[in-house]
Amino acid sequence: MATTRSLLLLVFLLSLLLLLPARAGAGDWCPRVASMTAESACNAVCGTPHMRELCLGTLAAPSSTTTTASSSSPVTGLAMAAVRGALDAYAATTAAATTLIDGGAVQDATEKAAYGGCMVGYGRARLAMARVADNLAAGGPGCGEDGKGNNGPGLSLSADYTVGLRGMDMCGRGMMDYPASPLYAMNLADRNKTLLAALLCSLVAPPPQPGGGGGHSQSLFARGN
Ligand SMILES: *[C@@H]1O[C@H](CO)[C@@H](O)[C@H](O)[C@H]1NC(C)=O
Repeated sequence: MATTRSLLLLVFLLSLLLLLPARAGAGDWCPRVASMTAESACNAVCGTPHMRELCLGTLAAPSSTTTTASSSSPVTGLAMAAVRGALDAYAATTAAATTLIDGGAVQDATEKAAYGGCMVGYGRARLAMARVADNLAAGGPGCGEDGKGNNGPGLSLSADYTVGLRGMDMCGRGMMDYPASPLYAMNLADRNKTLLAALLCSLVAPPPQPGGGGGHSQSLFARGN
């Protein structure tokens, strides 16, 4: 009888030990991340056929972690593919803008200033979306360093993709008077890519609520979706 009891106790203690590594890891509790197919994720977050096409195309890209639209992937991986797509687009656009300026294609001083504003906006967006990528690579909010020191899980993720959207809008405001400029069209496309990344990230961490310090995030999300 006593042996059975101590045996049970041993089994109990061993099972506790088995649970430990899962909790200790990053020192934080790591929320379980949902898995979805690319198609269901795109259907869930996209409000227009255009965004849906952009979403499916982005998640089907060879660089994406997903192989086929019909196999399930963790939503962190789906969001990561869109964040990488946005970062690649920023690099291409800023390189193209630099070439246009250096080649003397932009003569008007105010238009030049608008290009300068775009460089600042894209710089901010790049830093913010790189933080989003780091956060997702760490497994999402609450798993890595980025999940710490905030008021709730996901706050830094949603704050960062909101900064990404604002960076795109900073460029867009300046370019509004120059719709014929190639940078105008590139920025609209990059804004959509940033919005797509933010929408897919919202599957990992919902956007900040209005009045909760998030400010204009809802209208940022609404535009173009
Ligand atoms: C961005 O998305 C909106 C809404 O889905 C769409 O109407 C618009 O044509 C897109 N713009 C670009 C440049 O892709």
